[in-house]
Amino acid sequence: MNRDTVLSRLVAAALTAATLALCLIVLGSGRLAASGEGAVPRPQQDAAPPTQGAADAAPAQSGYVGPETCLTCHDTATLHGTAHGNPRIPGSPAADKGCESCHGPGQAHVEDDAKGHILKFSQMPARQVSDTCLTCHNKTEHAMWDSSSHAARNMGCVSCHSVHAPKSERGQLVKATQLELCATCHKPQAHKQLRSSHMPVREGKMTCTSCHNPHGSTNVRMLRVGNYINESCISCHTEKRGPFLWEHAAGRESCVTCHDPHGSNNDRMLVVRTPMLCQRCHIGTRHPSTIYEGTALAQRSNRLVNRGCTSCHQQIHGSNHPSGNAFAR
Ligand code: HEC
Ligand code: HEC
Ligand code: HEC
Ligand code: HEC
Ligand code: HEC
Ligand code: HEC
Ligand code: HEC
Ligand code: HEC
Ligand code: HEC
Ligand code: HEC
Repeated sequence: MNRDTVLSRLVAAALTAATLALCLIVLGSGRLAASGEGAVPRPQQDAAPPTQGAADAAPAQSGYVGPETCLTCHDTATLHGTAHGNPRIPGSPAADKGCESCHGPGQAHVEDDAKGHILKFSQMPARQVSDTCLTCHNKTEHAMWDSSSHAARNMGCVSCHSVHAPKSERGQLVKATQLELCATCHKPQAHKQLRSSHMPVREGKMTCTSCHNPHGSTNVRMLRVGNYINESCISCHTEKRGPFLWEHAAGRESCVTCHDPHGSNNDRMLVVRTPMLCQRCHIGTRHPSTIYEGTALAQRSNRLVNRGCTSCHQQIHGSNHPSGNAFAR
């Protein structure tokens, strides 16, 4: 190693160290700014991390009065029957500071004649409420919330969930069923479930959240699994994964080129019937594929009847047969 290389390596190392230090400073100040902003006092510093300290230990800490005190005046706002009201679930509000795990320390509120000094979620924008929920729900299922399309559109946890007055049997939703909930904003997708060909969503064997994670994900369209659309589909339809000796380029690109995941009135949820589906891409092939010429129509072309092109090209998703290059076997 000559002197020049040693020198240049030293310089490079010094630069890296400087950048790292700069990053740390920026990060640090960013965090400071974040914790300082917003007029609403944030209870999470006190609420998390949830300890094994039971509700009766809470009053000892400054500012907390314990749920029994709250319930002397607020008899309706109970959490009975929900996970939040169950002290046996580790980390639930009931196992921690009760009402005050979410609403923040209540001493000042109890003493205040004007009854201020408390987080009034029902009067706050949904988005702000989420900050409190995320002190506990920030892992696995909810880890990607901040980058979800729902968060980006100013929605919050309480756009879909209710803590005190849930209407659904599962998941504490603001509507009786999940389909009903999603349908309030996504009518086209929900209504497509009523088409003749669909996955068993309206039969209740699947839900919108079988495929989507409304709390955000790494995939496009908030799809629960994978990093691109096909990975979502093949998480259930594994036989379509391949690898195939002969791949159909169209399938490799995306399953939704040919299928509508929410349902369609064509066989097998196809976006268009065959042969028209195929002819979107295949207009000139070894055998005449067009159905629009007079003879084909007059002779009731075999591309029009039965399953159209796939009567012969059966292995349309790919073939492992040595001579399956045309997906006919
Ligand atoms: C001495 C009676 C009393 C006690 C104890 C009390 N509150 Fe209140 N609280 C009130 C009154 C009165 C109001 C204002 C009327 C209303 O909006 O219900 C109020 C309002 C609230 C609100 C706002 C309601 C809204 O419309 O958004 C919340 C949340 C709340 N209290 C939570 C608590 C919590 C949590 C505790 C226990 C730490 C607590 N309260 C203890 C009397 C009390
Ligand atoms: C998991 C967080 C959480 C806990 C624990 C909690 N609340 Fe709430 N509270 C909320 C949210 C969110 C709202 C807004 C309405 C809703 O989502 O149901 C709310 C609303 C309220 C309201 C306004 C009235 C209403 O229904 O809109 C009162 C009063 C209240 N809570 C009191 C309490 C009391 C008393 C307790 C303890 C028994 C408690 N809360 C525990 C989150 C919580
Ligand atoms: C102090 C921690 C804590 C806070 C704050 C909190 N939760 Fe929870 N929540 C839990 C725990 C623990 C469970 C039960 C385990 C689970 O499902 O993750 C739970 C369960 C749930 C469930 C599932 C209920 C079911 O029946 O499946 C929903 C929905 C929920 N929380 C919504 C919220 C919302 C909305 C907020 C904010 C208003 C919130 N939580 C704030 C701890 C918390
Ligand atoms: C677009 C609507 C929507 C929004 C916004 C939303 N959720 Fe959910 N959430 C759902 C649905 C739907 C389910 C599944 C309910 C079921 O089990 O059928 C669910 C399930 C949950 C569960 C139980 C999941 C489990 O692990 O079993 C928790 C906890 C929860 N949500 C918390 C939150 C929190 C916290 C926020 C805000 C950061 C939030 N949700 C925002 C729709 C939503
Ligand atoms: C309160 C209205 C509302 C509800 C309820 C709602 N959404 Fe959304 N959703 C939105 C908005 C707004 C967008 C953003 C649309 C856009 O950016 O074009 C969105 C986007 C989406 C997207 C597209 C994501 C993307 O990245 O393109 C999916 C998937 C989705 N929602 C699924 C669901 C599911 C599943 C439910 C039911 C659990 C649900 N939504 C409930 C309002 C809602
Ligand atoms: C079988 C899996 C699956 C189910 C079940 C499902 N979706 Fe989707 N959804 C997808 C895929 C895949 C896309 C992406 C489609 C595209 O990019 O062309 C998507 C896209 C979306 C979008 C974005 C807009 C669009 O059409 O591209 C919304 C909104 C949406 N779905 C809502 C819902 C709702 C609401 C339900 C329940 C009624 C539901 N989805 C059920 C797989 C599913
Ligand atoms: C959560 C599991 C799951 C995911 C993810 C999933 N499917 Fe399905 N799919 C099913 C089930 C269950 C059926 C019904 C099977 C049956 O009836 O035998 C089905 C049926 C189908 C059918 C046949 C419909 C018919 O009329 O026979 C097609 C086509 C299909 N899915 C395509 C897709 C595509 C494309 C994707 C990705 C966007 C996808 N699926 C994602 C579970 C899933
Ligand atoms: C080039 C268009 C095209 C693409 C791309 C495509 N399919 Fe299909 N798919 C079809 C056709 C056509 C049928 C009906 C086959 C028949 O009639 O024999 C079908 C049938 C199906 C069926 C039901 C019947 C069966 O064979 O099990 C499922 C499930 C399915 N496709 C899933 C997928 C998945 C998952 C992907 C993505 C990996 C995908 N498809 C990509 C055209 C396509
Ligand atoms: C989105 C466009 C698209 C659609 C829709 C589509 N294909 Fe293809 N298909 C392709 C491409 C691209 C190739 C690869 C062509 C190549 O390698 O030269 C291909 C290859 C083929 C081959 C093998 C041809 C060869 O030269 O090896 C057959 C057979 C075929 N497709 C049949 C069909 C049938 C039947 C349908 C309807 C169910 C269909 N395709 C729908 C794009 C499409
Ligand atoms: C009656 C059976 C049959 C029908 C129906 C049929 N094909 Fe074919 N196709 C074949 C055969 C046989 C071959 C040649 C296979 C080989 O070379 O091994 C072929 C070859 C192809 C090729 C590859 C030819 C090339 O140029 O290299 C494509 C692409 C294709 N067909 C598309 C279609 C489309 C699109 C339709 C519907 C409009 C269709 N086929 C309908 C039997 C059929």
